[in-house]
Amino acid sequence: MNLKKALSNSIFNTITKAADDLSLESYVIGGFVRDFLLKRGKEKDIDIVAIGSGIKLARKVSDLLPSKPKIQVFKTYGTAMLKSNDIDVEFVGARKESYAQDSRNPIVEDGTLEDDQNRRDFTINALAIKLNSDGYGELIDPFNGLSDLERKIIRTPLDPDITYSDDPLRMMRAIRFATQLDFMIERSSIESITRNADRIKIITNERIVDELHKIMLSDVPSKGFLLLEKTRILQHILPELTALKGIDEKEGQKHKDNFYHTLEVVDNISKHTDDLWLRWAALLHDIGKAPTKRFSKKVGWTFHGHEFVGSKMVYKLFKRLKMPLNDKMKLVQKLVLMSSRPIIISEDHVTDSAVRRLIFDAGDHIEDLMTLCEADITTKNPRKFKKYHNNFQIVREKMKEVEERDHIRNFQPPVSGKEIMERFNLKPSREIGTLKEAIKEAILEGEIPNDKEAAIAYMLEKANEMGLKKS
Ligand code: CTP
Repeated sequence: MNLKKALSNSIFNTITKAADDLSLESYVIGGFVRDFLLKRGKEKDIDIVAIGSGIKLARKVSDLLPSKPKIQVFKTYGTAMLKSNDIDVEFVGARKESYAQDSRNPIVEDGTLEDDQNRRDFTINALAIKLNSDGYGELIDPFNGLSDLERKIIRTPLDPDITYSDDPLRMMRAIRFATQLDFMIERSSIESITRNADRIKIITNERIVDELHKIMLSDVPSKGFLLLEKTRILQHILPELTALKGIDEKEGQKHKDNFYHTLEVVDNISKHTDDLWLRWAALLHDIGKAPTKRFSKKVGWTFHGHEFVGSKMVYKLFKRLKMPLNDKMKLVQKLVLMSSRPIIISEDHVTDSAVRRLIFDAGDHIEDLMTLCEADITTKNPRKFKKYHNNFQIVREKMKEVEERDHIRNFQPPVSGKEIMERFNLKPSREIGTLKEAIKEAILEGEIPNDKEAAIAYMLEKANEMGLKKS
């Protein structure tokens, strides 16, 4: 099969010329070829493998390019990188790689194209297209990767136990590709992953999180999480989630399986947002339910305070996985903490003051919170499903009405602490905080409108009650 049409980017002409000049056999390999054949339509980074020195080839390519791009050389790995028209091109010499037992350091020797293809992760990632003039565009596919692409199968070139033990992250990559591309992982691979799941422990958190993010950003993330669970990888990387599995029954009362419920919520939210952190919030919104689960004869199963406990767990989980402890983490925490609030409001008569408090507490994240809560509706009862959605619609309308009138979002106290100090000739003291809090409460409760005149009148009244004298 000839795939000249995959090589329309002009960088390939230059690589061909450089490879011919150096008489160095060269191929484009891996993700670029896979995604071209899948018509994924993304301008991909390009991986070039040379049968010889990849660094030499990179230098020659840079010489031939008018822009003479800088090359970055990684001597220890025998690789070199350059950027051309915003595309990263990585050059590597073909390697025959074997790993010493009990060591993570590979023994690297020069190899043939076949050696190099053998040590790649999946047949669909081992496809190579020749770049030299002699054989230009020829597809080299020793493991029937093309057929696996057509049949939508993830398969390793070698015995899966070997491929996965060479780099255990590949177990997650298999699941990530299956999720992103909607492929099946062949049975012997699934079995091997399940056997070797605990080897994921030797992989750095950064690489694990990278794969988790990619699973999370797929169209149907639950596919990946179900596979992670089935192969027992999930219990090593996100035990908080596997702890949600199962249905307990006592005295004829059951609760829902919060693991499968969570996955439904993640899939639901993914239909409405591509925001990675909102999707994380969906994944973690119920993690506090495992440690707070209780049963009592009177009320059945309860998860009191699970939102608070869950939001504390978010911090620990992010820290353990070395995820950023920044405003993104705080957003996830806040959404977990508030994840039941709109639901409680919508179950009851929707009052103005409840809606004002919701807007006040959620601040800029109110829309995200509503998106999460709507995704949280997973009831299979069509009547209830409709009712809950209708109620949320009422909450949304009320939010709009209240916000237009009261401007609670990004609430600024209508009377400042400084003004209070001046009026009552006070030094910084507890009384100022008490007065400010009383004004805020009165506005949220709807006792006074959110404007300065009303706030001052209310403040004077309160100050009088507190025995403060005007200056
Ligand atoms: N590869 C591998 N084992 C790994 C990582 C990568 O064999 N653990 C090989 C595969 O042949 C892969 C290529 O290196 O196609 C490039 O890796 P990478 O850039 O990580 O992945 P892509 O396949 O390009 O896909 P994506 O960009 O979606 O991650």
